[in-house]
Amino acid sequence: MAQLAIKYTRGQLEILDQLKLPHAEEYDHIFSSTDAWHAIREMRTRGAPAIAIVAALALAVELVNLKISPVAEEVKVFVIEKLDYLATSRPTAVNLADAARKLRKTMEEAAAKEDANGESIREAYVNAAEKMLVDDVSDNENIGKHGAEWIVKNTEAGRKGQVSMLTHCNTGSLATAGYGTALGVIRSLHANGTLKHAFCTETRPYNQGSRLTAFELVHDQIPATLITDSMAAALLRLRGPTENIAGIVVGADRVAANGDTANKIGTYSLAILAKYHGVKFLVAAPRTTIDLQTKTGDDIVIEERPGKEVTLIKGPRHDGVTLDLGVVETVSIAASGIDIWNPAFDVTPHELIDGIITEVGVVERDGNGAFHLEQLFEADGLQ
Ligand code: MRU
Repeated sequence: MAQLAIKYTRGQLEILDQLKLPHAEEYDHIFSSTDAWHAIREMRTRGAPAIAIVAALALAVELVNLKISPVAEEVKVFVIEKLDYLATSRPTAVNLADAARKLRKTMEEAAAKEDANGESIREAYVNAAEKMLVDDVSDNENIGKHGAEWIVKNTEAGRKGQVSMLTHCNTGSLATAGYGTALGVIRSLHANGTLKHAFCTETRPYNQGSRLTAFELVHDQIPATLITDSMAAALLRLRGPTENIAGIVVGADRVAANGDTANKIGTYSLAILAKYHGVKFLVAAPRTTIDLQTKTGDDIVIEERPGKEVTLIKGPRHDGVTLDLGVVETVSIAASGIDIWNPAFDVTPHELIDGIITEVGVVERDGNGAFHLEQLFEADGLQ
């Protein structure tokens, strides 16, 4: 099984410190919402679904280990304040805000019950947070299945049963409760024998591709090649036809109502490349990433991160021959004094996206080029 980003049993939460991967696999204990806020902000845990689940479970752990008030209203207010605080940790991924909204609703409903007390509110919260962990894994497995089926049906390489795909950032087990979204699609193609090869980008500046996706691909023994972000055009041109590259599949941090998608910086460039080279461009995300309240990508807040993530790289000491995993060094790779712009995400306009893969099926644009994402939330969705 792929490495888990989140280890949880009632009252206890550990997260894999993703800043240390791939050189060290160390778990940090998370005891409270404050611990989770810092772990998310520092990107020790990251990826839209994982951020939401870590936040929700951290508060569950805090509540379980707390001597709580017997008064329902007091516990409800405590929880809602903590949820509001957690939602400020990172702004672009909507999954956390969505989880906070749903948990707030759970609190309101639990507190409205005639026999509500502090204990019943705590129980309602913990059950709802734990359900998010369980649901995310099954949602990802379904995303993988729907995505793989769509690619097999809608691409020449798929029909031949020999598909290569390019992916960006990390959307696997490390970014979710397990299995992954875009990487889940690649896992599913591999599991059903249709995957020829996976390509992953390095994903500058934080290197989620080379550190995390490559780690997962090696771990799962999926045939894969790492490229730097700047090699994607050459890959599609020079190796696309011989490698049967059917398309590019990425995750999402927020999909606006019209399908415009915020995802890791560099996604937009890849979508333009896919269009030029005539390969599919697919977004894989659970419905918790779809934000019908945000009309277009222009309304999405893009997180800007510290310049040092661009100018400094960190890794174990290497003397040119051997790697010393015991000593982590930080090296500057930019001229000091240069101004830095470090947006963590960009927005891909919906017209560049061929399909949005969710746990209930794949949505495509209609004849006028528009997505109708609301159908995903209608009673039977696309199932
Ligand atoms: O800054 P990160 O590492 O949290 O960004 C992650 C991404 O952009 C992922 O593609 C997205 O969150 C989807 S993860 C299933």
